Amino acid sequence: MREIGKPLLDGIRTGGRLPPPIWLMRQAGRYLPEYRELRKRARDFLTFCYTPELAVEATLQPVRRFGLDAAIVFSDILVVPDALGWAVEFVSGEGPVVERLEMTSGLPMFDSTDFRMHLEPVFETVRQVRRAVAPRVTVIGFAGAPWTVATYMIEGGSSRTFASVKAWAFGEPESFDKVIALLTEATVVHLMGQIEAGAEAVQLFDSWAGVIPEAEFRRWVIAPTRVVVERIRQAYPEVPVIGFPRAAGVLYKAYVEETGVDAVGLDSSIPSDWAARDLQTRVAVQGNLDPCLLLVGGEVMRRAAMAIIRTLGSGRFVFNLGHGILPETPLANVVELVDTVHAAMSAEG
Ligand code: CP3
Repeated sequence: MREIGKPLLDGIRTGGRLPPPIWLMRQAGRYLPEYRELRKRARDFLTFCYTPELAVEATLQPVRRFGLDAAIVFSDILVVPDALGWAVEFVSGEGPVVERLEMTSGLPMFDSTDFRMHLEPVFETVRQVRRAVAPRVTVIGFAGAPWTVATYMIEGGSSRTFASVKAWAFGEPESFDKVIALLTEATVVHLMGQIEAGAEAVQLFDSWAGVIPEAEFRRWVIAPTRVVVERIRQAYPEVPVIGFPRAAGVLYKAYVEETGVDAVGLDSSIPSDWAARDLQTRVAVQGNLDPCLLLVGGEVMRRAAMAIIRTLGSGRFVFNLGHGILPETPLANVVELVDTVHAAMSAEG
């Protein structure tokens, strides 16, 4: 049965809704004092993600505090390699450290029963979040896109140059295809598990989509994303897929035309009028306030937010940031942003 009265789903399906729906990428996390307090209750970050009691509370904190239209399940894109039995660790102050996948090391085994069992706590978090939120709030599940997750596995964590993953992809494309195929299958299973548990929309974070040239972008960003979208659409035609190919520049157009996503997350470099003309005519768009404007706040932030709404608010649109919220963000500016968006009663506003 089709859900009615969910601002976020309506913003994706029909649009032209003012005020527009709003949520914020990485809306849960360290900028919230209540998150920092909760975080002390688990010895490490992955344990935190796999403890539904804690993950549910972290998911709900920003929704409660700011009155957002979506609850994105509290987890991480690196639970997928972890569930494949690949060592993942979060070292405080340093970010993720991942067991390095090398051309000679052999791929992790994918056993879908083991994999699902490992991710069961995330699915349980989704179930509990779905029960806890008001009916108007949309529960969003997510996963990293295969390319982005592959960068963390092959680089052993975050990277500045992506030299190792690119050397593999450029040098041994057939063998790299196998890495992407494995991660594509795992991503589908992970997203389906979240949907079965109650996620009403899913987002694919391709944070590093913008670091590869066109031919490789088509092969390892667009093609696997299309497979994920097709598989989800077959099983759950009602569940929108939001793709976020960050920093893809002009390739956003091919991404939108060829992947079949229902909505596309814009990074802050994408001009709103270009997005209105070349993307929003085909899919819903989501974005794209620069998260650093939340450090500044005030009139500068409000004007930038209103400019986005003026250009994109009359079509299929979800207000969001162009990338995740920063840990040093002052709470008062988030409140002000949400108030500004909620006060946008006309696209001329
Ligand atoms: O509120 C939400 O959006 C849900 C939770 C969420 C987290 N990570 C929690 C988290 C989501 C959607 C993510 C996605 C994620 N994780 C991405 C894609 C989005 C992006 O930012 O590009 C990426 C690349 C990761 C990988 C990752 N996880 C990194 C690089 C780091 C360390 C850097 C950092 O931001 O701290 C993490 C850790 C992480 N994931 C934290 C949180 C709240 C911080 C852990 C802590 O110290 O509490």
